[in-house]
Amino acid sequence: MSKEIIINPSLLSANFYNLEKDIEILHNNDIKYLHLDVMDGMFVPNISFGIPVIKSIKENNSNFILDTHLMINEPHRYIDNFIEAGSDIITIHLEAESEIKKTLEYIKSKNIKTAISINPETDINRIYDYIYFVDMVLIMSVHPGFGGQKFIESSIDKILHLYKFINDNKLNIDIEVDGGININNINKVVDAGANIIVMGNSIFNGNIEKNIIELKNIVNTRRNYE
Ligand code: DX5
Ligand code: ZN
Repeated sequence: MSKEIIINPSLLSANFYNLEKDIEILHNNDIKYLHLDVMDGMFVPNISFGIPVIKSIKENNSNFILDTHLMINEPHRYIDNFIEAGSDIITIHLEAESEIKKTLEYIKSKNIKTAISINPETDINRIYDYIYFVDMVLIMSVHPGFGGQKFIESSIDKILHLYKFINDNKLNIDIEVDGGININNINKVVDAGANIIVMGNSIFNGNIEKNIIELKNIVNTRRNYE
């Protein structure tokens, strides 16, 4: 049975001067996830926001599932802090962590959903060493660090490969995709097998409510033809 398709807004593109307003619009439009991009200026060439911001979002919006995408080196150093702040899902990068299995097991032991991510240039086959340790795999479809980049087409093959592996082995693992997704390519990633779709600019540029309705319509129309 196919999974529900989740539209997961990346707050990186939100209005940081009035986050409350943007989050309220998401809430009113039945959005359940918030994707939180944490960057350290080392693993990626940019610095975003961190623990205090996530804590404050959680304290004021406890109903959202906080999907924390750690683009930081050696994330095991901060897992406790992100759990304490209220993260519900923690994603670490395969390229950034020296103790991957140990870190994923640690996150799991705290009853937090675990995920691993790979950059566009990383071979999808490297994921399978860790697949039994995670609830979700995040396929980066742009080079991490910035919103508003162009979708990298080879990500589709990775999603297809991963979807087949998950299906063949009857695993219950979500496939998240992140970067450059918009009204023109969302159905392509969904058709390939992704079920959690991160979007920054496509949601926050312009009228947020209108964007969400349009994206949902596109995905729902596709589902009617299944
Ligand atoms: C990039 C981040 C993404 C980004 C997506 O490093 O991981 O979550 O915010 O933004 P768009 O959808 O604008 O590419
Ligand atoms: Zn992200």
